[in-house]
Amino acid sequence: MLESKSYEVQEYAGSLRFDRRLYRHDIAGSIAHARMLARQGIVSDADAALIVQGLETIRDEIDRGDFIFDPADEDIHMAVEARLFKLVGEVAGKLHTGRSRNDQIALDVRMYLRDEIADVRRLLHNLRNAVVELAERYPDAVMAGYTHLQQAQPVLFAHHLLAYYEMFTRDDERLADCVKRVNVMPLGSGALAGVPYPIDRESVARELGFDLLSTNSIDAVADRDFVAEFNACGAILLMHISRLAEELVLWSSTEFGFIRIGDGFTTGSSIMPQKRNPDLAELARAKTGRTYGNLIAILTVLKSLPLSYNRDLQEDKESLFDTVDTVKNTLSICGAMLRTVEADTARMRDAIRDGVLATDIADYLVCKGLPFREAHRISAALSQHARDTGKSLSAISLEEYRRFSPLFGDDILNLSVERSVSARNVPGGTAPTQVRSALNAARHMLNSEARREKSTD
Ligand code: ARG
Repeated sequence: MLESKSYEVQEYAGSLRFDRRLYRHDIAGSIAHARMLARQGIVSDADAALIVQGLETIRDEIDRGDFIFDPADEDIHMAVEARLFKLVGEVAGKLHTGRSRNDQIALDVRMYLRDEIADVRRLLHNLRNAVVELAERYPDAVMAGYTHLQQAQPVLFAHHLLAYYEMFTRDDERLADCVKRVNVMPLGSGALAGVPYPIDRESVARELGFDLLSTNSIDAVADRDFVAEFNACGAILLMHISRLAEELVLWSSTEFGFIRIGDGFTTGSSIMPQKRNPDLAELARAKTGRTYGNLIAILTVLKSLPLSYNRDLQEDKESLFDTVDTVKNTLSICGAMLRTVEADTARMRDAIRDGVLATDIADYLVCKGLPFREAHRISAALSQHARDTGKSLSAISLEEYRRFSPLFGDDILNLSVERSVSARNVPGGTAPTQVRSALNAARHMLNSEARREKSTD
């Protein structure tokens, strides 16, 4: 049909250039479909056997790189079918019985994405592991915790890192949930209305590893909400990665000097020999942008699209593929990069200004019976006094303290970063016992995920 059209039109309308990456899933779907047609007596066993053999040959040709993709073929379905005609002759024409490219492409994308989500989750597991390993390497290190990028209260470095573990674990849960809606088998929907042959959808679903059948043929060929959902999962995941990447950039700066990123993940400057630029962390931070773009792209393709299939839906793929690639590459780079990070725990400790103990002074007064607001006012006045006299809080004498409130006793002089951290002994808090149990819980969860993965291999 396209033969009569110009090359430019072919180029514009075709998707073979990018949808060829679906070939394994396309062929697996066709094989399952052909076998079912034979089981149901819709085509003969001999014809189905020929078709299946031909499809396996094509898969091997593409695997080996021997397959010649003809740009005249509009998409991967046409490319495979054209080759099948060459290999097995007219019987190839029977494969498309009870099927349309509309349910075929929905099937391919769903199978492809299901496999990619499994890969993404393995890589994410590895990144979560790397985060926890880093925390395990420095279980006692203290640093200033920040709000507004101002030193706020001291926290354990491990506690800060475990915040990322939580984010990445929720990202994994989102993917696990997303795959439930991806793993639905659309074949049998035909072009949009279903097919008039006695096909057996359940057996195809079983053979292809689907948990569910789509329940409305129009919906099955028309929607790509599962693509939008995956792109959203990817965008949120990379948003989290961008925050970690940003902190790696900050922490490895001369001013912070909290960490050193391994040589493989930094670059020198050709004119400034002292520099170790955190390029990979910067790139990971920036890659987030394309995943946001990809999410907006699919949402916009789907917006106001009348039912059912429209060619617009072909535009679901490039943004999906780009998110898949970006997410996988970024996860793998960041997992490896984190394993090279070394922390300068002394530097982290030294960077803490003892202004971070101001909350502890207020808490001290609360323990002596003052309402928190009043205690806060006194602590603020003391901090101001320290600033005015150029003293650190730890240099303030008991007499000076007492000028601000008679409730201060000499135990106020015991205030320290370590005590401040230990005092926050609530579930989810930064006290060492809490962080130790959070680390144990994370380690336990990762190990059981790894065991489950092994047993399903
Ligand atoms: N290349 C098409 C896509 O990606 C396949 C389905 C084409 N169907 C059609 N009726 N033109 O959506």
